[in-house]
Amino acid sequence: MAQVTNVYVVSKRDNQFGVHIVTTQPTLFISGAGGKLGRLVVEQLLARGYAGKIIAGTRDPSKLADLDGVEVRQADFADVDGLVKALAGADKLLLISTDQLGTRLENHTRAIEAAKRAGIKEIAYTSMPAPEQPSAITFAPEHFGTEEAIKASGIPYTILRMAWYTENLLGSLPGSLASGKWYSSAAGGRTGYVSRIDCARAAAGALLVPAANKTYTVTGPAAVSNAEIAAIATRLTGKPVEVVEVDDASLAAGAKAAGVPDFVVDNFIVAFDRNAREGKVDLATDAVETLWGTKPESVEAVLVAYKAALAA
Ligand SMILES: NC(=O)c1ccc[n+]([C@@H]2O[C@H](COP(=O)([O-])OP(=O)(O)OC[C@H]3O[C@@H](n4cnc5c(N)ncnc54)[C@H](OP(=O)(O)O)[C@@H]3O)[C@@H](O)[C@H]2O)c1
Repeated sequence: MAQVTNVYVVSKRDNQFGVHIVTTQPTLFISGAGGKLGRLVVEQLLARGYAGKIIAGTRDPSKLADLDGVEVRQADFADVDGLVKALAGADKLLLISTDQLGTRLENHTRAIEAAKRAGIKEIAYTSMPAPEQPSAITFAPEHFGTEEAIKASGIPYTILRMAWYTENLLGSLPGSLASGKWYSSAAGGRTGYVSRIDCARAAAGALLVPAANKTYTVTGPAAVSNAEIAAIATRLTGKPVEVVEVDDASLAAGAKAAGVPDFVVDNFIVAFDRNAREGKVDLATDAVETLWGTKPESVEAVLVAYKAALAA
């Protein structure tokens, strides 16, 4: 289990004894706390009894009205001056990447600038595996650019390269189970899927220790192929599904003909399969256990929890 080791010491020469020592835990600022990952990070910190102050930043504080034990502040990466005010008094920032593909790098860069102006002492950032070029993933440069901007800021950092969420499978698996076919151009490539809660645990754990300018790749316990996932899904639902390997162009044409928007086909369906085929996510690390002290959930464990949704 990760230990809370980074105690900040504040000394004041304000009494008759000369020096008065006050110890306190760092104040944590979680950006994007209104999102699914951000809220889970806050909940994990609270569940572990974090003794310091937690500030939950979000564009829409009403989304966090039910969250006890934290201070909620309005925070939008688009507004750098507002962000500097929101970050006031915080020691560590968890910068959760936004979901706004195309504007992420400029937004993240503004957040790093605001962190610097606000005197943030450490930044943790949610990146993706192997974001360096060349990459099939169209948004990889946004993550890699953010990593580089954090390093250039001089603020001590922890980069958390989160593998794809296991929960992403819930978007496509029900359709494959219904048709009995899972078209793929991954050519047997494996993916180290990780549950969202394990990503939250890794991020929360990273905030509990001093940042040491480290980069972690956060994965589940094993990288799995589409055929292995299909076999799990069949076991859970009783529905057979066959993985049909095709090339990228056929995969794209089939998905577009089925009405999937071009943006999704190009940036996600084909790009993710190509990335898997190139071995970029064939990864299994011990980052979750190192940072949080618990073993990550397997793909099967996550799918069991969503068995009813899969079968529907
Ligand atoms: N590894 C993966 O498979 C995977 C999958 C999906 C997404 N992601 C990435 O991981 C992030 C967190 O995942 P999630 O499941 O929590 O996604 P989500 O529920 O869709 O959350 C989107 C996040 O983006 C934040 N955001 C959007 N615009 C923002 C802005 N202008 N300023 C500050 N924050 C902004 C939201 O914050 P507020 O709403 O609180 O303002 C929220 O935290 C995503 O944003 C995306 O970058 C990774």
